[in-house]
Amino acid sequence: MQLGLLGYGVVGGGVHQWCLGRGDVAVKRVLVRSDKPEIAAISTRDIQDILGDDAIDTVVEVMGGIHPAYEYVKAALEAGKNVVTANKALIAAYYRELTALAAEKGVALRCTAAVGGGIPWLVNLERVARLDEIESLGGIMNGTSNYIMDAMHRSDVDFAAVLQKAQALGYAEADPSADIDGDDIRRKLTISANIAFGAVLEEEAIPTFGIRYVTAKDIANFRAHGFVCKLLAYAGTAENGVCAYIEPTLVDAHDLEAAVPANFNLITYEAAQLGRQSFYGQGAGRFPTAANVMQDCLDIQNGQRRFYTERAVPTTLDGTNEAHPYYVRYEGADPWLDSLTVERWDGAVITAAANTYDMIAWAKSHPGTFIAGIR
Ligand SMILES: NC(=O)c1ccc[n+]([C@@H]2O[C@H](COP(=O)([O-])OP(=O)(O)OC[C@H]3O[C@@H](n4cnc5c(N)ncnc54)[C@H](OP(=O)(O)O)[C@@H]3O)[C@@H](O)[C@H]2O)c1
Repeated sequence: MQLGLLGYGVVGGGVHQWCLGRGDVAVKRVLVRSDKPEIAAISTRDIQDILGDDAIDTVVEVMGGIHPAYEYVKAALEAGKNVVTANKALIAAYYRELTALAAEKGVALRCTAAVGGGIPWLVNLERVARLDEIESLGGIMNGTSNYIMDAMHRSDVDFAAVLQKAQALGYAEADPSADIDGDDIRRKLTISANIAFGAVLEEEAIPTFGIRYVTAKDIANFRAHGFVCKLLAYAGTAENGVCAYIEPTLVDAHDLEAAVPANFNLITYEAAQLGRQSFYGQGAGRFPTAANVMQDCLDIQNGQRRFYTERAVPTTLDGTNEAHPYYVRYEGADPWLDSLTVERWDGAVITAAANTYDMIAWAKSHPGTFIAGIR
């Protein structure tokens, strides 16, 4: 199997390393945009050197970003090449078009590393969805935000200081918004829900509330009441489509999610007959992520020629029946919040069951507010 690698960064370099010394999978060409002396002999800056090379059967896209990744992946599929990508932004945004094109061309499109980094989540989601009925899925799907929440629970430090440390350790980007505001999780949730429910969800419409405004005082409040706060994703079947959202959530200190340390992920589905199954591990990092890319390649070598599901039906988001109590820290007075309040904690309130979509919309329109669903 001969690979054309697009990008030679954290993941691309890892894929190359995994291939070295193997007889069955080799990197034939690498598309670069800046010099990489260690791979000069196989580097190119011209995508046509990969697309036009009949010996390359599989294109591995690990450049990131939407453009030109989209154009290159589309051209690779059109040229009859299999595609493996770790690019969650690309797959979430062009899900329907790219999966349909791969099916039309009879080639594989795999993206296991795009959700859960090194965790074999999507391949197992595929296996359970072909047999059982998945009722819901979600969990801790972003290592950076989990690192921040975990560090804040372990010591009495404020958000800004923990974020700075996460950046120094390389766990958080210089611009951390995608991780702390939930956009990264939203892409992973969209791909997972699409595969689990045979759906096509509009990624940007999924209500999402991140951890940007959490304070050390909030954490002290949670601790005092036996809770641990985690940024959790959820998607489940609903009466008129799929209910999906991302919000900080208070879990019981004895729950599985509460025990997830540092930058680890814990992703779970609930299926009708199988019940609950959770997958725990490294959601990012060079070798874990590149390992899932390699496993996709090896599956293709073993004859895999499909996406994870053949169903892709545009599906509406339905949050009508999703309600639970909330922790809300809000400076000011608000009649809607007052009408929901059942208890007061230090500087915050606990509400009666409130509709999730309404609560996230309300909190987003009141910057500085922190909310956490209580499950
Ligand atoms: N890192 C992880 O742990 C992880 C986990 C799961 C998924 N992913 C996904 O994997 C993908 C790659 O992530 P990464 O962490 O490996 O990123 P990265 O370290 O920034 O590497 C990206 C590489 O692609 C190259 N590149 C970007 N645009 C290019 C272009 N137009 N033409 C040629 N080369 C181009 C960059 O070149 P330069 O070196 O010149 O900048 C860089 O070498 C992303 O979609 C990311 O979301 C990453």
